[in-house]
Amino acid sequence: MRLCLDQSVLCWVATADDCGRPNVSPKEVFASDLTRILIAHIASPKTVRNIEFNSQVMVSVVDVFAQQGWQFAGEASLVWADSSEFDEVASSLNAITDGLYPMKAVLVVDVQEAKRIVAPSSWLFPDKPTDLVRKQVLSRYGVEELSVEKMRRQSP
Ligand SMILES: Cc1cc2nc3c(=O)[nH]c(=O)nc-3n(C[C@H](O)[C@H](O)[C@H](O)COP(=O)(O)O)c2cc1C
Repeated sequence: MRLCLDQSVLCWVATADDCGRPNVSPKEVFASDLTRILIAHIASPKTVRNIEFNSQVMVSVVDVFAQQGWQFAGEASLVWADSSEFDEVASSLNAITDGLYPMKAVLVVDVQEAKRIVAPSSWLFPDKPTDLVRKQVLSRYGVEELSVEKMRRQSP
């Protein structure tokens, strides 16, 4: 689970308002520790408003190339920038942005349940080797996976 969170570039955060109306929005500045997911509130007014009414959230990450991901249910709280805890919870997020994105708060999700998400292809074609699945998905998305050697050659 931690590996999938660490390797994902984007998570989706779902909340609900006081009438139960759902809201979902993407976040790319996030990190995890043993039991929590930390998410930067840079520009997430609705998510934050909903959490103030209803702290139950869902966070989802997917590795499209591996065709799997995780769905995490938990209780969210907000650590605002003027709080004494802020520097501690914001440090891993500032490391991602080089401190260039001002955070109004950190959304701290205490994970209570985790559910694996798999693409139907994994049970429809269980014998297909994972490297072949990866190759086919890369091709479907028009993405070329670079070897370390090739990356070195391409970097300025
Ligand atoms: C690729 C992508 C990554 C984003 N990452 C973040 C983020 O890490 N933190 C944040 O507050 N907003 C982020 N946003 C912006 C919010 O998703 C956007 O402002 C959204 O409208 C907020 O909706 P909400 O108020 O319903 O949460 C991102 C948007 C995109 C498209």
